[in-house]
Amino acid sequence: MRTQLRSDTPLLEFWEATRLSADDARYPEQAEPAAGTDEAIRAALAGVLGRGCGQRVGTVLAKGGTFVQARTTPSAGALYPFEVLVGLSDGERCVSYLYEVDSGQLNPLASAPPVALAELVAQAGLADAAAAPVRAVVTLVARPWTSMAKYGRRGYLYTYLDIGHAATNLALAARAAGLDATVHLRFRRQWLTHALGLAGTCREPQAVVTITVPGRPPADRPAAGAPAGEDGVVTPVWRDRRQARLEPPGDPERRNFEALRDISLSYAPAAVARPGRIASVTEPPSPAEPSADVTLRRPRGGPDDHTALAARRQSAKGFLPAAVSLDQVAGLLDGLDGRLAADFAESAPAGIGVRLVARAVTGLAPGAYAWSARRHALHPAGGGPVGEEDVLATCQRQDGLRHAGALVLLHTPLRALLREQGRAGLAEVHFHAAHVAQRMCVNAARERVGITCVGGFDEAHAARLGHLPRGEEVIYLLAVGVADPAARKVDRDPVAYSHGRTAAGLI
Ligand SMILES: Cc1cc2nc3c(=O)[nH]c(=O)nc-3n(C[C@H](O)[C@H](O)[C@H](O)COP(=O)(O)O)c2cc1C
Repeated sequence: MRTQLRSDTPLLEFWEATRLSADDARYPEQAEPAAGTDEAIRAALAGVLGRGCGQRVGTVLAKGGTFVQARTTPSAGALYPFEVLVGLSDGERCVSYLYEVDSGQLNPLASAPPVALAELVAQAGLADAAAAPVRAVVTLVARPWTSMAKYGRRGYLYTYLDIGHAATNLALAARAAGLDATVHLRFRRQWLTHALGLAGTCREPQAVVTITVPGRPPADRPAAGAPAGEDGVVTPVWRDRRQARLEPPGDPERRNFEALRDISLSYAPAAVARPGRIASVTEPPSPAEPSADVTLRRPRGGPDDHTALAARRQSAKGFLPAAVSLDQVAGLLDGLDGRLAADFAESAPAGIGVRLVARAVTGLAPGAYAWSARRHALHPAGGGPVGEEDVLATCQRQDGLRHAGALVLLHTPLRALLREQGRAGLAEVHFHAAHVAQRMCVNAARERVGITCVGGFDEAHAARLGHLPRGEEVIYLLAVGVADPAARKVDRDPVAYSHGRTAAGLI
């Protein structure tokens, strides 16, 4: 009968051909892990990647006035100038996946040659700092042109800051999921560049986060916070059959990358790794008058709620003309000296100073204050009213920041540091700044304080406003205030112009 129908009419033939057979049914790709991979690790890691640097609910304004899906970490101009490669053992060799954040997928990277995970860890110089056998290697790979096409040479520093935010957030998300994470900046970049098939692509691995499992596997332990996917963060899906490819660079990108030879760590020998637990905040010198300290409310403590806060973090797009409270400031600064396992634990204190410039903070006289983590106090560093004009002049006249109640300046004696430590110093101090800034962003989500990371600022103006000692330079700034929920970022070009771009240079 069927045969007859098929031959009788094209319509019935079509209908017959479109019917499905249960015998042909296949399981979805993600249900077929590569042979030998540990399902518990894959599941835990997907949650960590999603919370660490994946998509969150909402959109943000990006290049050319278009909106892109928001992510859990901030990014200068929402350009996200980096890619995330995840190395995972499938039993015999290491499969390198490209985390395609926009589609929420982890696809094997076509260009990465096969290598055993243990060999990758050993040859890239990652073994000494990791606490236990490494189960996954997450490499944060900068694509500098993404940022530099808009922000010129300063855009390269934004790749360090963006990646520092992401590496910190990955480490915090791993800890909340019961895994251990180590941040590496002193690995063999050239070896890893080749091992991941990145040579000639105008990309550079800037940070690696290795993941280890302490004691019991993560599946045996209760998950912290909301189950993956239920907090508005998109948990990526492992796909083993597709192949990801990196977008090839064009000529302007090649020329731009070549110009980074004297700055990039990719062209320098790796600094000696010093494993340990690093804090990124330096203490200010002991004050002559400790009695002038403004002591801050003690931290509330409580469970590590990073999982929920990561999903809620966002930048204020503008501030209301209102004051923040001293208690909110205390909550914002809480735990900024928290530690991370890393491979750049120097014996001499490295890191950055934290200075608060209060403009409208109830309970705190306007002026500059040095923050001491040890005393949990703000120490007056220079007084006087701070006006909206001071904020605008410091922040390249970014009008959305006009009503910020306070500016937080992250500072360091940069020139001395560059003389002593060269390119590694530049990379590491920007990691320290991003580490502190990311903790502040997470705190702001808990305190419900508006916060905006600011790369577009006048360093000399900021240093004067903060009454910084001679030689100290501001390398990153955060504006804090009462977020205006109605504020919209409408035009980013003035910020790009203020970075020295011309109309012809803008893309
Ligand atoms: C290194 C860096 C520099 C930034 N500079 C500025 C800035 O100068 N002005 C500003 O309004 N936002 C700045 N931002 C914030 C971004 O605009 C914001 O993160 C991005 O739009 C994504 O939005 P979201 O943080 O709400 O996810 C910066 C963020 C980073 C990480």
